[in-house]
Amino acid sequence: MAFKIGLLGYGTVGTGTAEIILDPAGRNHLLQEIEIAKVGVRSLDKPRSPELAAGVLTTDLEAIVSDPEIKIVVELLGGLEPARSLILKAIANGKHIVTANKAVIARHGAEIYTAANKAGVYVLLEAAVGGGIPVIKPLKQSLGVNRIQTVIGIINGTTNYILTQMTQEGADFAAVLAEAQKLGYAEADPTADVDGYDAADKIAILAAIAFGGRIKREDIPCEGIRQINATDISYADDLGFVIKLLAIAKANPDNDSLQVRVHPTLVPKDHPLASINDVYNAILVEGEPLGRVMFFGPGAGKGATASAVVSDIANIVSILQTSTSQKLDPLLRCTHDHFSELTPIANIETRFYARFLCQDVSGVIGHLGTSFGNHNVSLESVVQIGFRNNLAEIVVVTHDVQEGNFRQALEEIKNLEAIDSIPSILRVL
Ligand code: HSE
Repeated sequence: MAFKIGLLGYGTVGTGTAEIILDPAGRNHLLQEIEIAKVGVRSLDKPRSPELAAGVLTTDLEAIVSDPEIKIVVELLGGLEPARSLILKAIANGKHIVTANKAVIARHGAEIYTAANKAGVYVLLEAAVGGGIPVIKPLKQSLGVNRIQTVIGIINGTTNYILTQMTQEGADFAAVLAEAQKLGYAEADPTADVDGYDAADKIAILAAIAFGGRIKREDIPCEGIRQINATDISYADDLGFVIKLLAIAKANPDNDSLQVRVHPTLVPKDHPLASINDVYNAILVEGEPLGRVMFFGPGAGKGATASAVVSDIANIVSILQTSTSQKLDPLLRCTHDHFSELTPIANIETRFYARFLCQDVSGVIGHLGTSFGNHNVSLESVVQIGFRNNLAEIVVVTHDVQEGNFRQALEEIKNLEAIDSIPSILRVL
């Protein structure tokens, strides 16, 4: 008996999903048991490839989520609505869900998983983070017995491509973004990618799974890459760093809270994430007793993302075929319903890089040092790089400091007579 599934959406990932299911030779035998019964689209006028049997395509998405024959609803619409409402209706009708939609899960995951657990259905989302890279299921299953300490990811391909090009070409952000848009690597509206929102959605999902507590997406501090320029990339290079947009989730060793944040970061060149370039993604997980593991691969794209979607479908089919239990598999369902406490950004400890433009007068470095010292900010290095527009350019790298203390020191420094401006402040891994 075939397992009937319904797809919501037949865009890039939807057609990639159909291509795998409709061409099962040489792939897992479970694919032969999956039937694409319905595909919901906005209009029936466009030519579609792969072509579907007559009657499969429909514009009635509500009918898919209430079709008694459909066991799994595969949501590939993206965005918040109607995706959220359709997922909730499908769950209420007893359907399992497979989704690639990080935004809807990061923002409405609590509501969706509460409903799914009540209805006894799975919501699987391997494709939502890291495209084709298997990371959700490994975190739940293969690494689940570890005490996870950190999850650090380069989980947005667009920004990684832009930063890689800026580093290799010595070019500024706006020029590289325009080129990336022309080549189709960046969206016409690049906001979600370049301002870090997409990465924040993804780290919210990874942190919830890795640390077993829901994450309030709106509480994740998030900075994008618009302010990154060729000057800082070049100074970072001189100091032994590359600049990457990192999504970080860390357990605080001295209490139960977590730090979850997204920001451009100076990464030491010998760190495993420093060499992840172009549109590739990588997720570094550290746990006890395991140590470090890194997942690397294509973080987006039709085939890669569809591979993750279809593997989730096959997982559910396999369970439905073999399990006699009415209970959900605890290694695949969501097992927590509390929210993790997130550390406010001011209390986070990290290293900083700051670039100052100042009058070239005696004692200026001493004044900077005194102001940092007044706020318990210890400096790792101070370099007078050179001159820009008749101003001396000084770059400072701190030791690990509390962000709140660092910001207070900067307020004091801004008021020093010799300081003209502070063009860049970045965090250092
Ligand atoms: N826009 C995302 C990226 C891909 O650039 O990585 C889909 O998650």
